[in-house]
Amino acid sequence: QELQMNLEQIEKGGYDHFMLKEIYEQPSVIKDTYRGRLHANEGLIQMAGVEDNLEKFLNAERIIIVACGTSWHAGLVAEYIFEEFTRIPVEVEYASEFRYRNPIINRNDVVIAISQSGETADTMAAIKLAKENGAFVFGVCNVVGSSISRETHAGAYTHAGPEIGVASTKAFTTQITVLTMIALRLAKAKGTLSTSVFHAYLNELEIIPEKVKEALETNEKAKEIAAVFKDAPNCLYLGRGYNFPVALEGALKLKEISYIHAEGYPAAEMKHGPIALIDELMPVIVIAPKQGHYDKIVSNIQEIKSRSGKIIAVVTKGDTQVRELADYIIEIPETSDALSPLITTIPLQLLSYHIAVMRGCNVDQPRNLAKSVTVE
Ligand code: AGP
Repeated sequence: QELQMNLEQIEKGGYDHFMLKEIYEQPSVIKDTYRGRLHANEGLIQMAGVEDNLEKFLNAERIIIVACGTSWHAGLVAEYIFEEFTRIPVEVEYASEFRYRNPIINRNDVVIAISQSGETADTMAAIKLAKENGAFVFGVCNVVGSSISRETHAGAYTHAGPEIGVASTKAFTTQITVLTMIALRLAKAKGTLSTSVFHAYLNELEIIPEKVKEALETNEKAKEIAAVFKDAPNCLYLGRGYNFPVALEGALKLKEISYIHAEGYPAAEMKHGPIALIDELMPVIVIAPKQGHYDKIVSNIQEIKSRSGKIIAVVTKGDTQVRELADYIIEIPETSDALSPLITTIPLQLLSYHIAVMRGCNVDQPRNLAKSVTVE
């Protein structure tokens, strides 16, 4: 028993939980994921799976992304990135819905399947359906040799290393890293990004690990805020644009490890009903970085404040406007709008981690959950 305990401690690298270790591994595993693929100085993205199938991607009439859970959230971020960078239409589907709804799949569709474990039954079924209909299927997996990585026609691995915590963290950010590189490669081939913008994104992606490291410094602030809200019965996460999927992901993290009911929502959608939920007992976490519909999200925050909602805002360092309105702010380094999810998600991971720990929950193995859902 003693030996087992020590072994686990060694595996956790001194962290109290695998999830916390994996949150802190993100700077290095994002670097591992772009190493050998991102050549910012030469203005190159090199990914064999993409190069070998470049024509299929470039001739795609649309890209269909199939995934589940957190991987589905990474797919939503990818939709915004692919459409903005490459102007190729993208649809994101829950694999479990796609496989049963008799969807339209054409031969010149490109399907991207995202799966950390590479064993998710619904995603595997969606892949098989796409292949039966003649589509080209590209996988983004974290486990080498996994079923999905073998089933797809081609793919690109995230190099996150084993993710033990059931709640996915480093898989999410490395998935976004891979998908961003694919979008950049296609944009370069299609000329849909100017050379200067293309190079700017390569240079920014290269320093993202440093910004993630800086975002991890919000840990103590996240812990303070967690202590205030750990007993909240409900929680709302709001974001716009690239950070709408991050709001969904932040809510999923809180739900699955602390068992608090949480919901992610597009910030502007609140006035179409959900704002009725707001009162002084409802913590609202708003992702409000400088880049990205800032003025609109400030007015969304004002709407919530006028209904006495408690506001926790993730803001860009040096923010002044939101600081005046929010009850709590968490400051992160500035990034472009498109790359902001890699940073804005960090404080949300830390916040849900600390709330779960304070609630005495089993952070690494939450109740009723499995790391990979290999059954339907
Ligand atoms: C995320 O924190 C959950 N563990 C879960 O939603 C997970 O993302 C989903 O089951 C998909 O798993 P996969 O990426 O291994 O396919």
